[in-house]
Amino acid sequence: MARLANWLRLVALIVVAAFSAAATVPAAAGVDLPKIEKGKGDKCVEDTQFMRRNHMDLLKHHRDDTMRKGIRTTKHSLKKCVECHASEKSGSVAASKEDFCAACHSYASVKLDCWDCHATKPGKKPPTQLGQGRVQMQSSPLIAATQPGESK
Ligand code: HEC
Ligand code: HEC
Ligand code: HEC
Repeated sequence: MARLANWLRLVALIVVAAFSAAATVPAAAGVDLPKIEKGKGDKCVEDTQFMRRNHMDLLKHHRDDTMRKGIRTTKHSLKKCVECHASEKSGSVAASKEDFCAACHSYASVKLDCWDCHATKPGKKPPTQLGQGRVQMQSSPLIAATQPGESK
């Protein structure tokens, strides 16, 4: 019985590994991508190739800086991504399947929970009270101490 359980676990691991490999290939190889709208302006916040591969790390890093250290820069802000990448048609980055973030992610089977809290449209109020986090964070003495000089 124990042996069967171990064997099943191994099979599950292999399946998961195969799936995540498949999900990273399109972004890494830069080929065979779904058709996506070009962003506003003539370039992204970083090199396009770099963005294809590393946007998730940029976003997570930027979020950690904001949430844990209270550092607020705009360069890798999610709000900025939405401003430049919202679709001409839907006005959103993830309302329809063809919208910028959603097009690629549904193709790569990536599901984001970001839009539960963050707005997918420029200038729109997010679905939940993001502002509350802001008030709490700014009133923390720890964060106030790290703010000057760090925020641009
Ligand atoms: C449960 C709600 C919630 C979810 C889910 C969530 N966030 Fe956030 N996020 C926040 C709050 C609150 C802040 C702080 C906003 C502030 O104080 O400026 C924030 C800030 C950020 C920031 C820095 C501010 C900005 O506009 O760039 C980034 C980047 C970010 N989140 C990215 C993400 C990404 C990427 C995901 C999905 C993987 C995600 N968040 C999911 C609530 C959430
Ligand atoms: C100033 C406008 C602007 C901002 C802000 C911006 N982008 Fe871009 N982005 C662009 C443009 C324009 C391109 C296409 C560049 C090209 O064709 O070489 C692009 C390309 C990309 C690509 C590659 C798309 C492809 O064709 O494979 C990704 C991924 C991406 N951006 C994600 C993001 C994320 C995530 C953010 C926020 C951290 C962001 N962008 C912020 C304008 C922007
Ligand atoms: C060129 C295709 C492409 C575009 C366009 C794109 N993504 Fe991604 N994204 C991916 C791929 C592929 C992954 C999964 C990478 C992996 O598993 O290593 C991913 C993963 C992510 C993750 C991490 C998910 C997690 O659970 O770890 C975040 C956050 C993210 N993308 C945000 C965005 C946002 C926001 C946009 C729109 C501004 C966007 N992406 C546009 C291809 C794209």
